Amino acid sequence: MKLSYEVVLVFLVLCICIAESVDPLGDSCNKESEISKGSKISANIDSLLPELALKTPPTGFATGFSGKGEDRVYGLAQCRGDVSTEDCSSCVQDAAKQIKQRCPNEADARIWYDYCFLRYNNKSSFIGQVNTSPGILYANVQDVNDPESFKKVLGALMDQIRGEAVEPKNEGLGKGQTQISTFQTLYALVQCTRDLAHIDCAQCLAIALENFDNFCNNKKGCRVLYSSCYVRYELYPFFFPLASDNSTVSDHYLINVVKP
Ligand SMILES: *[C@@H]1O[C@H](CO)[C@@H](O)[C@H](O)[C@H]1NC(C)=O
Repeated sequence: MKLSYEVVLVFLVLCICIAESVDPLGDSCNKESEISKGSKISANIDSLLPELALKTPPTGFATGFSGKGEDRVYGLAQCRGDVSTEDCSSCVQDAAKQIKQRCPNEADARIWYDYCFLRYNNKSSFIGQVNTSPGILYANVQDVNDPESFKKVLGALMDQIRGEAVEPKNEGLGKGQTQISTFQTLYALVQCTRDLAHIDCAQCLAIALENFDNFCNNKKGCRVLYSSCYVRYELYPFFFPLASDNSTVSDHYLINVVKP
């Protein structure tokens, strides 16, 4: 009996750790959309956020609005398509909490995590529009050993998964892996937001992939986060279902925020 008690205790401690909120990868508060705390727009944001947090997890995507007339605020939230309903739910809840803390005085705000993205604005026109500014970029500090062959393999994998992402049944998600040597596997994932037409998804991904020749060039891992798409590759498994892998890769990152 004592043993099982300890097991339960360890499990609880783990659960508490997992339940703690994760820091976002980035946020963007548009300083040109300033609002005051007591404004109607601010109150509409406060009622929009819990609605988005509730509506998003069942399908992984939601848009919505709150308020009337010129005070109306529009929102969009999406989880990466490989993420479970539970992980999606905790991500959008974190996002809904953090975005208003980070952008308390803006009507136009965005927040990025690995598992989800959330955005609101008092202009409805952002829904369905490709947006690649601002961008948040993360690159592993380490370079790959064999840049030339790496570039070819990465390019081929990206072509494959961006093709998947624009197939209607995949809802903007493409993911895959390629063995690059006996010891190393390359994992990559792309995700467009589901408000986009397929041609716009393709355009967002093409713009994101332009970073592969500069900021991401020859890095062991890289992420490009835009409001309309997410692109990432790593030499370790990072998407679901998680592949088992014994390789270890340094995860120190360079971060670059590309402002509009
Ligand atoms: C959005 O809110 C800002 C700040 O209050 C305001 O200047 C702008 O006109 C609003 N835009 C729309 C479309 O209502």
